[in-house]
Amino acid sequence: MELVRAKDYNDMSRKAANVISAQVILKPNSVLGLATGDTPKGTYLQLAEWQKKGDCSFAKVSSYNLDEYVGLTPDHEQSYHYFMRKNFFDLVDIDLANTHVPDGAATDVEQACVDYDRIVAEAGYPDLQLLGIGRNGHIGFNEPDDHFARGTHVVDLTESTIEANSRLFDSVDEVPRQAVSMGIQTIMYARRILILASGEDKAQAVRDMVYGLITPQVPASILQLHPNCTVIADEAALSLC
Ligand code: F6R
Repeated sequence: MELVRAKDYNDMSRKAANVISAQVILKPNSVLGLATGDTPKGTYLQLAEWQKKGDCSFAKVSSYNLDEYVGLTPDHEQSYHYFMRKNFFDLVDIDLANTHVPDGAATDVEQACVDYDRIVAEAGYPDLQLLGIGRNGHIGFNEPDDHFARGTHVVDLTESTIEANSRLFDSVDEVPRQAVSMGIQTIMYARRILILASGEDKAQAVRDMVYGLITPQVPASILQLHPNCTVIADEAALSLC
């Protein structure tokens, strides 16, 4: 695991955008694994700025997102489909037809999970997987558990995740209780992983991920076993390291 220290959120975002733009400059038809949440927003904005200036392009990129809430349609403002369009896809030259987000609104969600695994495998798995980390050490929506999940699956969200994500909904009762998430195995198949963390509330999770036991109770700890994983974290997120 390579640990890159950033001063603050903006510095982390700029550093992360540099890694992603280098990836798409060197391989224009890269397969990117993408994340939602507050953490990558600044990275997406920086990439959009550079793309507008002509420094990089996503025209040939295909993307596969990590997760989606069960029951939310793509036009729901809190859905991850919507987040991706608003915060990245609509800001860059990516072809929407080449973007993929798990279908949490499918009538048969289990089948949608199987189909998602198939298309990610057919794409050859991400060249670069971008990740954030939850306060409880989750990646994607792989919550602390007694085993590591393999493929895309339906997850019961923990109270801590529901509470953390309620800031984006009108009330905690509106937060879906389930999500669809890529599994740990699929995440580990990415050729390179870039995981970002900002803020003091991530400090314990970052410490456990980087220096703790490798355990499904801290899903991100499995990344210690990935051959090409870079952590970019700001001073606050590294305050316990
Ligand atoms: C979202 C995802 C989650 C988030 C994590 C951190 O696609 O994969 O694991 O990365 O919940 O969320 P933020 O960035 O909002 O702190």
